[in-house]
Amino acid sequence: MRKATLAGVIIGGLLLAACGGGEPAPTPAPAPAPAAVDATKIFASNCASCHGQDRQGVTGLAPALTASSLSARSEAEIKEAIAKGRPGTAMPPWEASLNAAQIEALVKFLKTAAP
Ligand code: HEC
Repeated sequence: MRKATLAGVIIGGLLLAACGGGEPAPTPAPAPAPAAVDATKIFASNCASCHGQDRQGVTGLAPALTASSLSARSEAEIKEAIAKGRPGTAMPPWEASLNAAQIEALVKFLKTAAP
């Protein structure tokens, strides 16, 4: 009787250790991924009014922004034009309203995506 009780306590203890104590901490919910930067949308809502929805430019307003119209410009120059604007023209600076990742995405978009 004594032995059985002792065994019961030991087994009980082992089970407790296995189930209760060793319970893995709940996995924290993954941090929400930063919203993907969608250059198409940024362009449509900020740039298309001057440069045209199709990026072909608007006569008398703003030039085309396509891979071919920008072929002579480096990515750094395009980035600079977007961030700082073109003083003395209608092209406004965007660095206060768009973050670096958004500007970077726009540069890639203008240089590579077909209009
Ligand atoms: C209010 C009108 C206007 C808006 C809005 C505008 N632009 Fe412009 N943008 C211009 C004009 C005008 C020029 C030409 C400036 C010049 O003569 O150097 C220009 C020039 C540029 C150039 C340089 C092109 C080149 O060939 O050197 C880039 C790049 C550019 N814009 C990107 C953008 C992007 C990206 C946006 C949106 C985030 C935007 N622009 C919004 C008017 C605008």
